[in-house]
Amino acid sequence: MSKFLVINGPNLNRLGVREPDVYGRESLSTIETNVQCLANKHGIEVKCVQSNYEGVIIDWIHEADTDFDGIVINPGAFTHYSYAIRDAIASISIPVIEVHISNVHKREEFRHQSVTAPVTAGQIVGLGLYGYELAIHALLQLRGSGK
Ligand code: DQA
Repeated sequence: MSKFLVINGPNLNRLGVREPDVYGRESLSTIETNVQCLANKHGIEVKCVQSNYEGVIIDWIHEADTDFDGIVINPGAFTHYSYAIRDAIASISIPVIEVHISNVHKREEFRHQSVTAPVTAGQIVGLGLYGYELAIHALLQLRGSGK
């Protein structure tokens, strides 16, 4: 059975109250519930975690290489400058899909660059909460079995 890890980075615990015009009114727990429902439908296992700390996220990425079959990650603002998270992703061999709720390309210039995307299998941007579900589908496809 496939096991995927969904990692949300800094400030994503504030979804629902944080800049609702940008990120909408749904909370992180809604995202996690949607992802769990999708996982149940596909008979796979998904674990969802969130941290505001770079080192914690790096440890999760390292551990996932042996414990999981793929990662969905929204690194939040770390996307734009964390070479440490980029190197952690580059150090593992399971596929990683990067997700952004907002369309970062329509926003401030500093958000246009992702230092992490070049070491991921792909990036999903601007599709709101649905991006996480698309990312799970993408991981299933990459696994090749659909399960
Ligand atoms: C974000 C975009 C980032 O620029 C921002 O710092 C976030 C959320 C997104 O999901 O749209 O925290 O990753």
